Amino acid sequence: HAILDVTVQDLEPGSHKIVVWQGLPVAIQRRTPEMLRALEDPTLLAQLADPHSHIHQQPAEAANPHRSLRTDYGVYITICTHLGCVPNYQDSANLPASGGFFCPCHGSQFDGAGRVLRNMPAPYNLPVPPLHFVDDNTIRLG
Ligand code: FES
Repeated sequence: HAILDVTVQDLEPGSHKIVVWQGLPVAIQRRTPEMLRALEDPTLLAQLADPHSHIHQQPAEAANPHRSLRTDYGVYITICTHLGCVPNYQDSANLPASGGFFCPCHGSQFDGAGRVLRNMPAPYNLPVPPLHFVDDNTIRLG
């Protein structure tokens, strides 16, 4: 794997950035406590196609309800699992959970942990890339 170090020092809670890793767009979101709580909302969980990410493989360290290494950072490859368009980051006004993703091609919606909602064209959740924290402010992809 080629590696990419991303500084997240400049990310305010609630904001995100998009980087390119191995030619793939990767969204890095810094979550607020509210965003985290929204990911556990039973109403949202009931709408997810694969709430536990059984369908899509992901790194073991991200196999948790928030699909992340650290709960305060969500990192997802934003390639739609339908036909490969690039979903846009959306704020909470447009989706049932804060900081989700919307695919402009055929309308698939993903929550703030990259989990796809039921009855969407996309069959499974957005992938989590291999990652770890080099230090408190640096995420290494790859
Ligand atoms: Fe995203 Fe079809 S490519 S919904």
